[in-house]
Amino acid sequence: MGGFAPSESFRLIALDRVDSTNEEVKRRALAGDPGGLVIWAREQTAGRGRHDRTWSSPAGNLYLSFLLRPNCTVAEGPQIGFVAGLSVASIVQSLLHNDEHVTCKWPNDVLVDGRKIAGILLESAAGKDGRIDWIALGIGLNVAWHPDDITGAYPATSLAERGATSFDLGAIADRLSRSVNAGLAVWRREGFATVRNRWQEIAFGRNQRVSVRLGNETVSGVFAGLDAMGAMILTQENGESRTIHAGDVFPSGFAIT
Ligand code: BTN
Repeated sequence: MGGFAPSESFRLIALDRVDSTNEEVKRRALAGDPGGLVIWAREQTAGRGRHDRTWSSPAGNLYLSFLLRPNCTVAEGPQIGFVAGLSVASIVQSLLHNDEHVTCKWPNDVLVDGRKIAGILLESAAGKDGRIDWIALGIGLNVAWHPDDITGAYPATSLAERGATSFDLGAIADRLSRSVNAGLAVWRREGFATVRNRWQEIAFGRNQRVSVRLGNETVSGVFAGLDAMGAMILTQENGESRTIHAGDVFPSGFAIT
């Protein structure tokens, strides 16, 4: 699988409990931390997901956030989510049996056999010049347990449910931080193209019909791949391509509520 080989690591700070590792990263960014930092917490009291959803965070799963100062434009920032998705997918695959199907769902989820095992939350602030000042790259990985909701298109799963035997959260945090570091080096050196190609190889729904919810509107088409910046390209029934910058992807035929 197209992850990134471990290299040097970030500074890793381990906490027993915090409101949200993304929030802690934000506080440290605003206090002037130079970046290259990972905050890992055993428990979060106010974990959050995309679209302000709650990310339930009792002890047992992995909650960590990177503080990055990537020196890139605001438009390039979301590409870092794909770097992280590849790292998570590769580590998940290595901890499971080989027959399990690990995919990345646009923009930033990781699925095992269509079930969500990890989510990624990117939050950032721009500097004066249209470039990124800092990014909080938060990763939540279901290790020991997962939420029970089975009503959505992607019910959750965990490493434990899938039969993994390693639950050493510190070891997983360390591998993840090394892999993300290596991935960021590839991204800086080669640009987004290499990351994009690897991500597309394991993309959920690629070349298949999907529906995408964009606020109040739902559009359908074939997920053709990513554009040069990481946006989703949807080929609609009339043959026209539509570029989607934000939305939720569903398998075609799923009743979106
Ligand atoms: C999603 O799928 O909606 C993204 C979930 C991201 C959860 C992680 S857990 C570590 C970090 N801290 C947070 O409060 N959220 C992210």
